Amino acid sequence: MVGPCDRRAREPRVDARKAASAHGGFGRRLQVVRSSWPLLTRAKTNSTQAALAAGAGVVSHLAYFIRGEHHNNGITIIFFYLSLLPCLTFLQYHYLQVPLITSAVQTAVLAVSYAAGLYGSMLVYRGVFHPLRKFPGPFWARFSNLYHSWLLVEKSDNYRLMTKLHEQYGDFVRTGPANLSVNVPEAVQLVLGSKSKCYKSPWYDTSLPLVNLHSTRDIKAHELRRKVFNKAFSPAALVAYEERITPLSNLFCEKVAAFNGAAFNATHWFKYFAFDAMGELGLGESFHMLEKEDNRWIPALLMAGMADIAQLQPVPWSTPILHRLPFMAKGPKDFIGFVWQQVLKRKERGSDRQDILGFLLAAYEKSEKKNADYQWLRGDSRLTIVGGSDTTASTLCFIFYYLAKYPEQVQKLRDEFMPLLAASGKDHLDTKDVAKAVHLNGVIHEALRLNPPIPSGYPRVTPPEGMTIRGTYIPGGTTVVIPLRTLGRSEACYERATEFVPERWYSRPEMNKHKDTFASFGIGPYACIGKALSLVEIRNFIVKVLTRFDVEFAPGEDGEAFMEGAKDHFIIEVPDLKLAFKERKLL
Ligand code: HEM
Repeated sequence: MVGPCDRRAREPRVDARKAASAHGGFGRRLQVVRSSWPLLTRAKTNSTQAALAAGAGVVSHLAYFIRGEHHNNGITIIFFYLSLLPCLTFLQYHYLQVPLITSAVQTAVLAVSYAAGLYGSMLVYRGVFHPLRKFPGPFWARFSNLYHSWLLVEKSDNYRLMTKLHEQYGDFVRTGPANLSVNVPEAVQLVLGSKSKCYKSPWYDTSLPLVNLHSTRDIKAHELRRKVFNKAFSPAALVAYEERITPLSNLFCEKVAAFNGAAFNATHWFKYFAFDAMGELGLGESFHMLEKEDNRWIPALLMAGMADIAQLQPVPWSTPILHRLPFMAKGPKDFIGFVWQQVLKRKERGSDRQDILGFLLAAYEKSEKKNADYQWLRGDSRLTIVGGSDTTASTLCFIFYYLAKYPEQVQKLRDEFMPLLAASGKDHLDTKDVAKAVHLNGVIHEALRLNPPIPSGYPRVTPPEGMTIRGTYIPGGTTVVIPLRTLGRSEACYERATEFVPERWYSRPEMNKHKDTFASFGIGPYACIGKALSLVEIRNFIVKVLTRFDVEFAPGEDGEAFMEGAKDHFIIEVPDLKLAFKERKLL
């Protein structure tokens, strides 16, 4: 890179000889290198250096990047490279007496050559030699997960994209360099079930340093933490929780009755109910969204935070980097700030009633590793609200969409639960009657089958020895995801798969062709711990509402935009659904 007219590069040759005789040994060798540098460069060493740098790029790919996980080291890697550039420039300038500009240019050439080697090796490996090379999928997806993200930029509708890709490429689709989407019924148990050797993918690390029951990838830590949660979800606790949900369902009915049968935004109001319920049962105090407007910003804040980075879900290394940028991830940061305030308030206030936070606080008080457990307390408090509110709210939206669309379902439900209420003398289903409410349970399952609130599945990594699913070998270290919404609507699993048929869950079991593929609450060791609670909530709510109201679409609403417009931010974000609840005329 040093040109023949470069004066500074030539001058040191005179000094070099003097210095060499003065210092002998090392000094002499250094000066020889210094003095010969311009000659060497003139002798076309530039291309040799560039080739060496490119070779180093290839080696770093094959020796480092291709092995193990590096998604959490993104910041360190960036800083390492960024600091290497000025160091290289300085070394050339100071020790080899290459002029500053020339050193900088030379460093840039080395950096570009290194990057070319690194990325070239990566692209060739992923495109030609990767163990997943035989799996079909979009051409560009094999080179980078960024292509998958790119496909989501416009609509953030991953669940729809997966359906399209499976229609086009078949049951196994390569969606990224080391990623497969597997739309096969048997995969549910093999990948997610309790005997599976698959483990949680790097995606679960994206909330670090915040850690919670859902995100932890450490099996032992998960087991221990799950024990803390288990206490909060015992059958006795659930009965006590229902006592506190009933007033919220009643309050919802009061508020909606005030619309006098006019249209209201059910999506918003179901969220107020579900968030209030999780505030009450999770943190010990309702958020009071049903009563007043003060806190109604919370669901939007939470969703905005999830939407921020939703398209980058397939690229787990990107989130820790983005989270460190001051203008990114404001939503999640504000939301955790809000939750933490609630935790402190609850801690100060104490409580004589049971709530989930009470169990988390008790574990924290006993802890001997307060620093580490502080992150668990924050993370799990947030998880309780996030995991339990939007999921339940969107499930209610889907259920009431079907009830408005098929009014005969409303009558069928009433015919079932009214006699049960009359016999028990209660205004909500008695625990012993839950199993008898087969149609009610069928309606809930059917809505969840067709519209799982976590629609694109839960990514897992195959064990080192790989695994075989329906005769297809999947190499170890592959990130596998089961596209639950696609599978839930697949004729391979269900007869009349896209139709709403609650009877398939009790009187028509032959319509479900495969056992054990329903996984809307997850299955196996990481399955939803709040499943029973959320079912209590949903049943209580449906019974209360249908006892008092008839359900219709609001004028001008047919539910189509609602169904078409849902966005996939890991948890689904449903658009507005306008309904009209009309008070029943009871004789
Ligand atoms: C319709 C409502 C709900 C649905 C569809 C649902 C779905 C799920 C799913 C699919 C998972 C596993 C995700 C994965 O493997 O990555 C999960 C985990 C979890 N859910 Fe739910 N959930 C619902 C309601 C609730 C409620 C009410 C709570 C109460 C706090 C809750 C708390 C949790 C927790 C703590 C986990 C982590 C469990 C673990 O990793 O051991 N969920 N949920």
